[in-house]
Amino acid sequence: MTKIYSDLYQFTYVLEPMKLSMHQYLLLAEEPILIQTGAVPQTQITLPRLKELLGGKPLKYVLISHFESDECGGLALVLEQYPKAAAVCSETTARQIWDFGIARNVQIVKPGETFGGSDFEFEVIAYPSETHLWEGVLFAENRRGIFFSSDLMFQMGETHGQVTESDWESAIAASGAEQLPNIEMQDKLRRDLRSISPNFVASGHGACIKIINST
Ligand SMILES: [Fe+2]
Ligand SMILES: [Fe+2]
Repeated sequence: MTKIYSDLYQFTYVLEPMKLSMHQYLLLAEEPILIQTGAVPQTQITLPRLKELLGGKPLKYVLISHFESDECGGLALVLEQYPKAAAVCSETTARQIWDFGIARNVQIVKPGETFGGSDFEFEVIAYPSETHLWEGVLFAENRRGIFFSSDLMFQMGETHGQVTESDWESAIAASGAEQLPNIEMQDKLRRDLRSISPNFVASGHGACIKIINST
């Protein structure tokens, strides 16, 4: 576990043998927020460290970009410890979380919406990431300028605690948007990313990015 940015702690599980780093984050705001749960083995390792950091505070939200094991596989385990935490995700992800009986307290968010608390505000960005390209979401925290990239800006390797530097346009160019199946979807994702101007990218897989020259 590493404090990687303002109020932001990174936890990493390295998937062998391909050395893929699965990062998850705790935003230690007045009402703390977990970003991704990791799959069950990762959650089991993270939970005791999380408890230490939280010092008795409950988790307010668990942010879930899309329904995949590294994003929300350990959600049931997290909710055992923090039963009042709300899972925040798209409608598509919510249906899966409900239908698999993983959680009931789910807050559905839509692209363009914001939600917040006394010292944080998240903006929701569209992310066509789900199976069959249904809508997932990305989250940007506006007070601190943190963009949680989920599977965008993806890199292989052991990258815990690593931070590189880039301008935002170059980060968008290297986001992996070109993997979406048609030009319209790719352009829309790039446009949506250009609508925010983060100071820091908290990557789901790979080094984090300190954004330079962003105004
Ligand atoms: Fe994913
Ligand atoms: Fe992921």
